[in-house]
Amino acid sequence: MDGFDPATSFGPDVASRYDNSLRGDEQAACRFLAEVAGGGRVLEFAIGTGRIALPLAEQGVSVAGIELSRAMVDQLRSKPGGDALHVTVGDMSLERVPGTHSLVYLVFNSLFNLLTQDDQVRCFENAARHLADDGAFVVEAAVPSAWTAQHEYVRPEWVGTDSVGLDVCRYDPVTQLLEENHVTLSEKGIRFGPIVCRLIWPPEMDLMARIAGLRLAERWGGWDRQPFTADSKLHVSVYRRR
Ligand SMILES: C[S@@+](CC[C@H](N)C(=O)[O-])C[C@H]1O[C@@H](n2cnc3c(N)ncnc32)[C@H](O)[C@@H]1O
Repeated sequence: MDGFDPATSFGPDVASRYDNSLRGDEQAACRFLAEVAGGGRVLEFAIGTGRIALPLAEQGVSVAGIELSRAMVDQLRSKPGGDALHVTVGDMSLERVPGTHSLVYLVFNSLFNLLTQDDQVRCFENAARHLADDGAFVVEAAVPSAWTAQHEYVRPEWVGTDSVGLDVCRYDPVTQLLEENHVTLSEKGIRFGPIVCRLIWPPEMDLMARIAGLRLAERWGGWDRQPFTADSKLHVSVYRRR
């Protein structure tokens, strides 16, 4: 996608609308993550508006975050409890925050926001760097197969009487890059929501983890520890040191 800048895909406009329709997995995710944290310190990579971090902190978990988009952090700060979280604005594959953590987590496909294999490996290495010896890195992401079955598609996201939302996508299996634009057509005009993701399947992630000195300890098909099967649309993977 010519001229795409990853830093702008979660700008002020997207950030202001981000929490309008929550994903619905927040409670289950917090339950899972609090159990894995076991009372220790927690760090969320790509913390966003605090969709997961804030309810987790409400349960008494000590949560910090790293986030690239200042607009998403501003949104987090505007919510109750948002000022209490320590958030570093920066790149999760590079940024270092003090101390070690019993849990580092990265959810909602956010690993895909890093657009090269090197950056994604660096992200695993950075997670490992922040972990206590018995700590865990939890990654939740889609299994991309359904998205990539067709290399190009346009899919209606919603159909209204005075507006429609279209998901316009192109997937390149050579680079594993999915170029996507959420296009809204309404009487106010046309609004674009471009994003590019590098899709990876679980086995590539497992090798990235090994490079970072971690091993897959558990893999689930959802936050409620559903079995991971050939039909799973997403996975929750727990990596620990060898
Ligand atoms: C789908 S949102 C997820 C936000 C939050 N984790 C959640 O579950 O709601 C993806 C987030 O990743 C952030 N992001 C993208 N690239 C990043 C990077 N290199 N370092 C840190 N955050 C990044 C975006 O700004 C955005 O807030």
